[in-house]
Amino acid sequence: MAAPSSFNDYVQNHTDAFIDRLRTAVAHKSVSGDSTLRQNLIDTGIWLKGELENLGVTVKLHDLGMQDNLQLPYLVLGSIGTDASKKTVLVYSHYDVMPANVWTGEGDPFTLDVKNDKMYGRGSTDDKGPVMGWLNVLEAHQKLQLPLPVNIRFLFEGMEEVGSPGLDNFIVDEVNNGDFFKGVDCVCITDNYWLTTRRPVLTYGVRGIAYFSMDITGAKDDMHSGLYGRMIHEPMTDMVKLLSKLVETTGVITVPDIENQVPPPSDDERESYRLMDYQLSDLWKDTGDRKVELSEDTAELLMGRMRYPSLSIHGIRGTFDTNDGLKTIIPANISARFSLRLVEPLTPNYVIPRVTAFLKAEFAKLNSKNEIEVKYEGGGLPWVGERNHWNYQAADAATQAVWGSSLYPNYVREGGSIPVTLTFSEKLGKNVLLLPMGQSDDGAHSSLEKLDISNYINGTRVFGEYLYQVANAQT
Ligand code: BES
Ligand code: MN
Ligand code: MN
Repeated sequence: MAAPSSFNDYVQNHTDAFIDRLRTAVAHKSVSGDSTLRQNLIDTGIWLKGELENLGVTVKLHDLGMQDNLQLPYLVLGSIGTDASKKTVLVYSHYDVMPANVWTGEGDPFTLDVKNDKMYGRGSTDDKGPVMGWLNVLEAHQKLQLPLPVNIRFLFEGMEEVGSPGLDNFIVDEVNNGDFFKGVDCVCITDNYWLTTRRPVLTYGVRGIAYFSMDITGAKDDMHSGLYGRMIHEPMTDMVKLLSKLVETTGVITVPDIENQVPPPSDDERESYRLMDYQLSDLWKDTGDRKVELSEDTAELLMGRMRYPSLSIHGIRGTFDTNDGLKTIIPANISARFSLRLVEPLTPNYVIPRVTAFLKAEFAKLNSKNEIEVKYEGGGLPWVGERNHWNYQAADAATQAVWGSSLYPNYVREGGSIPVTLTFSEKLGKNVLLLPMGQSDDGAHSSLEKLDISNYINGTRVFGEYLYQVANAQT
């Protein structure tokens, strides 16, 4: 059975109310990376619990305890349906968002700005839109007095954007000693995006990540370059020399024994990337029409995102600000951050000692008397799932039912990271699917994040339809 037409009608007819729901969600400043907003983050979890309860879900807040003198936000564990004759779907999303200290949209990032059928606001696409999508599905069923076709377990976390501390332990513990995951048949993660702005995707892989900081310290304080330039070792000079050793401008990683671990694509695999519905103009759409692509070959571009590792330098602290005038000091302390995106067989445990030893060896070659510290800040493992599974067939059917069969979904691996994916797959031993709501130009993490109203509304319909297709699936 497909979702009843009353469900689809309800969703279409409640667009304004659903936008208001997202507006309320975005107004909660649940920024996990900003300790000054920790109470807001905790309150957001409590608010979410209340919203779910109003929609008939039984909710438990799981206390993850403290981290560095800061209380961690709750895991919101929701449970609806206990019918043993129905399948049980585990849904995962996160209610925390990235900081929005730089925001180029109109007004502030926590006030949803609806313009030209798009909703601008921090978290609109990553990941409050999808979380609210699930609430919309529940509301429609509650108001129409429709029974849900499956049992659902919701796991909404509040620390995804800072590496999900405590989540893996909770899952292992709960699998061994608890009953929250009991009876789960499949997992649906709604925290990803389309590859383009026109065609839906289903995602069966994510890259892992290893995140590093590197500090170089010289004199005790900043020094005048007119007085001490060419008298002392300069941390910034050391830093740019070292950073330049990590990666080529072509994207090739130059830390030894990283690139050579990843097997090259077979002809068939390369062809599968060529067949994806992707053009250079799709990339240009995301880059704001700046033609900064590394290759003209879309298969190369997509493999760069999906099946090769990458290394990005995210920032250097201790440089200058706009109000510094003609800054002439020698900064005494420089800190840089960079990360590697990992694909099999690369793991954080494999790359950490290699990256660290390489940077120390290169630093030694500089004969600098400054001090260096390379620190691993956290990460996660890569994952590739099983796409030939009824979970994917259900999502495929649901996507086509909503968007039309000509917009059948491409199957892709994602370049971003959601470390819990592998944990679900390994600890629950169930199929994991990533089902997207937003599209490629939504600008997750950027200074102008948005979600199209059509993606929000049709995404809500896809989520609902997916539940019916799961119920239908022959296992
Ligand atoms: N929603 C993203 C993951 C993602 C990114 C999926 C790109 C699909 C495409 C998630 O919220 C995220 O930002 N993850 C972090 C993980 C990190 C903090 C361990 C990331 O990828 O940087
Ligand atoms: Mn996310
Ligand atoms: Mn994110």
